Amino acid sequence: MTDRMADRVPDRETGRKAGLEMGREAGLGKGRGPGRVMSRNLLTDNPELYEARFPDPDRLAGRWAEDCLRRLGAGPRVLDLGCGTGRDAAHLHGAGRTVTAADLSEAMLAHARARHPGPTYVRADLHGFDLGRAAFDAVVCLDSSLLYCHTDDQLDGFLASCRQALSPGGLLVSEMRNGAYFLGRTDLLDTPAVNSFTWRGTAYRSTTTLTVDRTAQLLRRTRVWTSDDGAPPVEQRSSWRLLFPLELRRALAAHDFEVLELHDGPGPRTEPPWQDGQLPGHATEADRLHVVARLHSTR
Ligand SMILES: C[S@@+](CC[C@H](N)C(=O)[O-])C[C@H]1O[C@@H](n2cnc3c(N)ncnc32)[C@H](O)[C@@H]1O
Repeated sequence: MTDRMADRVPDRETGRKAGLEMGREAGLGKGRGPGRVMSRNLLTDNPELYEARFPDPDRLAGRWAEDCLRRLGAGPRVLDLGCGTGRDAAHLHGAGRTVTAADLSEAMLAHARARHPGPTYVRADLHGFDLGRAAFDAVVCLDSSLLYCHTDDQLDGFLASCRQALSPGGLLVSEMRNGAYFLGRTDLLDTPAVNSFTWRGTAYRSTTTLTVDRTAQLLRRTRVWTSDDGAPPVEQRSSWRLLFPLELRRALAAHDFEVLELHDGPGPRTEPPWQDGQLPGHATEADRLHVVARLHSTR
């Protein structure tokens, strides 16, 4: 996060600055409807709420990433890009790796340092970063963080930075939404999806609408949050690159990576989810995309 909003970490005991209260405090931009307030990203700005909304008690994502790294013989030094709350980075640290974890959100980083210690947490922009030449044996980038590269220049910046950060033969492990899923399918689009959950005695309800912006090649999300604590609704907007499997292959090849695995599952966010010992498939049909690529040994 680049704004002051990111510095406001929710009060851990009372949660008073969490949730919609936080969105209201942010006061970022003008509301689009009566009593509606825009927030940058309620969940990213409120890491505790993020973990409550997307619990991963069995550390499935971290276990999947560690399985990829072990199976393909990665060395111990790992960079987790777009690390969010730090859960996966801490899991990799617990598995014996030396982990640096990076995010743009100061709120996420503060939460990660306090709640998931072990890794070294740093602020970095995945569109272009310099955390040392050949400083890592692997880069992991989970839960669609890579898709915050909206433009080709940003994707090139990401891959060029990974190339510089990795030692020869280093691995890139990433999992994300699959742009190809949306070719000819509209089941996830245009119709609002409602989700409810309770956190610290407050009932939250999110209404999420996904649309495809074909010109920008982005999946755009509008999410409206309401809660039963009297706070006004909060509307937030996010976007992800609709990246297609062959496009990703081409971009990786252009940056000297060899694709070892590219598939739609099983993975940590597939249905059914990945289980220990399961090997990757070969199709790229379903809604998640997993990629493991190796930087060529000679540069
Ligand atoms: C969906 S979360 C995923 C977090 C974590 N990897 C996980 O799997 O739980 C995406 C994360 O990417 C971060 N992010 C978004 N844009 C970024 C950028 N340009 N550079 C670094 N991090 C970014 C957000 O702050 C957020 O923490």
